[in-house]
Amino acid sequence: MAELSGSDVLNSDWTPTEIDTSVAHPARMYDYYLGGKDNYAADREAAEKVLAILPEGRAMALANRAFLGRAVRYLAGVGIRQFLDIGTGIPGPGSTSETAHTVAPDARIVYVDNDPIVLTHARALLAGDRPGLTTVVQADLRSPGDILDHPEVRRVLDFDEPVAVLLVAVLHFIKTDEDPAGIVERLKQHLAPGSYLVVSHGTGDFDPDRSEAAVRGYDKATAPFVLRDHKEVAGFFDGLDLVEPGVVQLPWWRPDGEVPEDSDRIWLYAGVGHKSQATS
Ligand SMILES: C[S@@+](CC[C@H](N)C(=O)[O-])C[C@H]1O[C@@H](n2cnc3c(N)ncnc32)[C@H](O)[C@@H]1O
Repeated sequence: MAELSGSDVLNSDWTPTEIDTSVAHPARMYDYYLGGKDNYAADREAAEKVLAILPEGRAMALANRAFLGRAVRYLAGVGIRQFLDIGTGIPGPGSTSETAHTVAPDARIVYVDNDPIVLTHARALLAGDRPGLTTVVQADLRSPGDILDHPEVRRVLDFDEPVAVLLVAVLHFIKTDEDPAGIVERLKQHLAPGSYLVVSHGTGDFDPDRSEAAVRGYDKATAPFVLRDHKEVAGFFDGLDLVEPGVVQLPWWRPDGEVPEDSDRIWLYAGVGHKSQATS
């Protein structure tokens, strides 16, 4: 594929040829919730089905992006200089690299997503970014070995040093028979002591019926949405030390100020775990 300039990619009526716009995709549905323009009719239709049942969906997406920012700022603040952001989403303001570089201009970031539209946008947006410090890789979380062994990942990240692995709003797109716990375990084992794992994840704990009905909106998308309970989400951190306050609803994870009103309607859990020693 020919190299594209940022303005080519950001032009709203430009459509990359390899992207199937007839099937809804979680990245573009998420973009729609966030008020972005990088979505197509199938994405909007599926997202509207979710929002018809769960109007809080937009607030949940915004709360999730805000959590991502707080987590990255926290990690950069405790000295993390390497980030592996899997399930990046279409980059926008408050991206991992933008946030990390405000604290640590030397931070290295690898973005990984399985959606080509994310890759194309991310490449264009990062083209002017600090060369060598940020990169974008098309790969699938369901094949963690391919991510860890990818030459571009290995070029930018040194796994002998601490790395923060970000799995923010992506594990709920991994079906149970695809072994999400095993995938996370594989990633954790690869990390040096001092590394961190960040997870946010949708849950049906607060209103099972409405949550289950809403996520049916993803059934025709490229990946279904799997709700998990608190125990299952906390289980992703097995073998790690949870950073305070543990696995909590997103807005309660180290809020910058007052927790916004209506935060109890944000039905995603979030947590950050620290690997203090090698896991077996
Ligand atoms: C809801 S968005 C989250 C974006 C970003 N992490 C955030 O929290 O703002 C989920 C992203 O995960 C990506 N994704 C879904 N399944 C994936 C998989 N199996 N491998 C890699 N990326 C995946 C989607 O393409 C989408 O960009």
